[in-house]
Amino acid sequence: ARAAALALGTAVLSGCGAGQYISIGDTAAGYNREVLNLGLWAIAISAVIFIGVSAALFYTVQKFREDRNTAEPQQFHGNNKLEVWLVAVPIVIVLGLSVLSVRSLARLNPVSKESVGIEALGAQFWWNFSYPANAAAAGGVVTNGNEMVMPAEAKIAVTTTSRDVIHGFWAPNLGGQRASIPTVKKSWQLDTDRPGVYQGNCSQLCGASHANMRFKVVALPADRYETFETAAQAYRAPTPAPGSAEARGYTIFMQGKAATGAIACASCHRVQGTPAAGVSGPDLSFFGTRRTLGAGKWEAMTPARWEDPEAARILHLWLKNSPGVKPGSLMPTYDGSTYYVNGKPQKGGVLTDQEIDDVAAYLRSLQLPEEADYWRGSP
Ligand code: CUA
Repeated sequence: ARAAALALGTAVLSGCGAGQYISIGDTAAGYNREVLNLGLWAIAISAVIFIGVSAALFYTVQKFREDRNTAEPQQFHGNNKLEVWLVAVPIVIVLGLSVLSVRSLARLNPVSKESVGIEALGAQFWWNFSYPANAAAAGGVVTNGNEMVMPAEAKIAVTTTSRDVIHGFWAPNLGGQRASIPTVKKSWQLDTDRPGVYQGNCSQLCGASHANMRFKVVALPADRYETFETAAQAYRAPTPAPGSAEARGYTIFMQGKAATGAIACASCHRVQGTPAAGVSGPDLSFFGTRRTLGAGKWEAMTPARWEDPEAARILHLWLKNSPGVKPGSLMPTYDGSTYYVNGKPQKGGVLTDQEIDDVAAYLRSLQLPEEADYWRGSP
């Protein structure tokens, strides 16, 4: 009966069935199962109270209808016995619900020691996911912008933090909302039994592009996660062939173009295995493997889609004038237009269309080996 109730709850809360859907009632996650169970208890108790009160009301209205009772009703003042009941029963109900809530909290809150640790850093307006447990092995922390990779059927301890204002980490299918607060690192547990791609959003109003601060969580079967982890640790960005578009893009990425005031991408972004080690923008190490752009503003940038001129056009626009296509983006412009940092106008640098496309070519060459591509098999 409980399983049926949970299934019903899931169906009601999720609205639709197969495929990618966003649901707080996704029972593949232990967190959601616990919360749903607690909710069902609260709903069941509320239903009993509602039915009881309604029944008493209808009974009273019927029994004491004026047309049936011409005599004046019995008059009395105060009823100690009734008043004791009226206080005692709600106390018992509230205490009961408190016990259930505390029990759920105790089950959800401790982060077990076997958990896979992942750190989620929120920033205006993007996310970085890092795997600090790997730090020693990798000679540095593996990080990935806007796409979090985790094993399914395992406990994950996500540590949330922020580099500017308060953000909210929320992937509804995997668990509740968690605040990402600057200077604070708080760990909490999430999990899912079902491998798949899950939608995440920033759940705390944080500025002009709050709505464009999304992320994907890719939950992989254990063996594929291990392949990803190993490859991510070993990953060193490929060195472009001399004379290629990628090589020209690499130079601009690392050095910018002083003559036209174009700031080097490397001053804000990190690419594993290169001198680029900036931290004020998202990590671009696996840019070519990622399928979202602009923190989820554009999706489904599949390898096939890169052949589509529309996808290339979006990336071109993004690199050239990021704040122009995503309000509040702190990335400098490369078409000479003005952009704002903390409200202060800054003059953008200039890159030619060819140079922009060279940088795009370099970025797209930053790919994990095929077997470690966490998107492989996703539609
Ligand atoms: Cu970050 Cu809303």
